[in-house]
Amino acid sequence: MSGKTNKVVVITGGSSGIGKAFAKAYNAKGHQVIACGRDQEKLKKLEVDIAGVDTFQCDVTDNASLQAFLSYIDQKYPQVDILISNAGRLDRVNFANDDLSQFDASSQINLNLTSSINVVAAFLPQLKKAAQGNIVLVSSGFGLSPAGYAPLYSAAKAGIHSFAKALRYQLKDAGIAVTEVIPPLVDTPATAQRTEAKVSAESVVTETLKAIAKGKPEALVGQTKFLPTIMRLVPRTAEKLVFSS
Ligand SMILES: NC(=O)c1ccc[n+]([C@@H]2O[C@H](COP(=O)([O-])OP(=O)(O)OC[C@H]3O[C@@H](n4cnc5c(N)ncnc54)[C@H](OP(=O)(O)O)[C@@H]3O)[C@@H](O)[C@H]2O)c1
Repeated sequence: MSGKTNKVVVITGGSSGIGKAFAKAYNAKGHQVIACGRDQEKLKKLEVDIAGVDTFQCDVTDNASLQAFLSYIDQKYPQVDILISNAGRLDRVNFANDDLSQFDASSQINLNLTSSINVVAAFLPQLKKAAQGNIVLVSSGFGLSPAGYAPLYSAAKAGIHSFAKALRYQLKDAGIAVTEVIPPLVDTPATAQRTEAKVSAESVVTETLKAIAKGKPEALVGQTKFLPTIMRLVPRTAEKLVFSS
């Protein structure tokens, strides 16, 4: 990040969990945060919880809604310095046992992969106006190796992993850095029912800010720090471990 203050930071899914932790951290640094989400009540609460945060109701899977968010930003802010594409949700599905007669993969793939790519494409012109832009894509350890209970989510996040790499190469001469955030299980409202060990949303933000400051392409958090090495040394063991996590 450059020394310029008062950056404009756009966060999709900024009203809860990891997105809200990003909003808090960038707001505390004196930057202007604009967060979106679908639920207006959650956005209102965010504005109360973090004074100075601007919000806009937007469903990132709906192109008209995304374009309305873009117009709002375009009219109110001169450029976007940091885009955090974070909105996402894990749905469980079991191809061996579930009734798949009404099955449709598009909702999981749209939210966790397609919409994230659309968000990047939509905000690129604003990011190009910034002196030094940064795109942060929130992926998952399951994008490196799939979870047994979430094959679609894992496939979508693996898509983000691949997209982040390609995007980084394409944007390297445009002055826009691409940082992929690869968390393990994180303590957020989305994982409230999970009893396993979780890292905090704040630690995800801390590791991401460190990665951005050092110009690292990926922010590996908690157990995912070891995942690439384990996958290289003992790939089948790593796969089994993550699959049954
Ligand atoms: N928690 C974990 O263990 C974990 C681990 C690895 C990666 N991740 C990733 O981290 C990201 C954030 O997860 P989280 O755990 O912080 O979830 P969370 O607490 O449920 O927050 C999700 C945020 O996304 C928003 N959102 C959901 N669907 C949206 C849509 N269609 N359009 C716009 N906003 C939408 C939600 O607001 P509304 O519901 O109001 O729209 C909310 O603000 C996700 O991409 C997730 O896959 C999470």
